[in-house]
Amino acid sequence: MSRKGFIFDLDGVIVDTARYHYQAWRKLADTLGISFNETDNEHLKGVSRVRSLEKILDWGNVSLTQERFDELLNKKNNDYLSYIANMDEEEILPDVPRVLSYLKQNKQPIALGSASKNAKTILKEVGLLNVFDTIVDGTNVTKAKPNPEVFLIAARQLNVRPEDCIVFEDAVAGIKAANTAGMTSIGIGDPSVLSEAMYVFKDFTEIPTEFFAKLISE
Ligand code: BG6
Ligand code: MG
Repeated sequence: MSRKGFIFDLDGVIVDTARYHYQAWRKLADTLGISFNETDNEHLKGVSRVRSLEKILDWGNVSLTQERFDELLNKKNNDYLSYIANMDEEEILPDVPRVLSYLKQNKQPIALGSASKNAKTILKEVGLLNVFDTIVDGTNVTKAKPNPEVFLIAARQLNVRPEDCIVFEDAVAGIKAANTAGMTSIGIGDPSVLSEAMYVFKDFTEIPTEFFAKLISE
């Protein structure tokens, strides 16, 4: 078996937190009188906190002072933190533990590649902080997805070439980042949304163990 690098996004891939981001942004959009639905939210998945607020303001044609912008950004994060405050392993998405332990058993390096600055807090809450060989999150990157920086740093830290890395992503921006990095992109979610991914599965329960075995042996 060869040695590949498996890179996992966090929100919406490892844990069911994408819905909490959505709820917090929706609350913020409501305060500003900007309409915001789940389709709009797809454009925010994988996107940094600052860039997400800029997009919402653009959609609503609203401009704010820097002070108000920072205040709203803080408010969104505080709301989000209150939603995730009581998270436990129940929020780990189905079959993620099966996949992680299969890769570990087969000595495959695994990394987290997330835009979130809250990644470590979340991993700790759900008991996965020590599972990854390396964690690259919103505190380590300067360029947000779709820029491939986060995944390229992860590959370097795993000591695996980008073309030998496999990325799991629920966001359009994340799939673009993986493709730009020259990695194998696997979408987790709706195939019509994640059409640029090389493979798409509804969730990990749909990925048979043989699929991972094949990726490792290729
Ligand atoms: C990504 C989420 O993982 O992290 C985005 O998909 C979120 O919705 C981004 O905006 C930044 O997260 P945080 O926790 O730093 O606000
Ligand atoms: Mg995500």
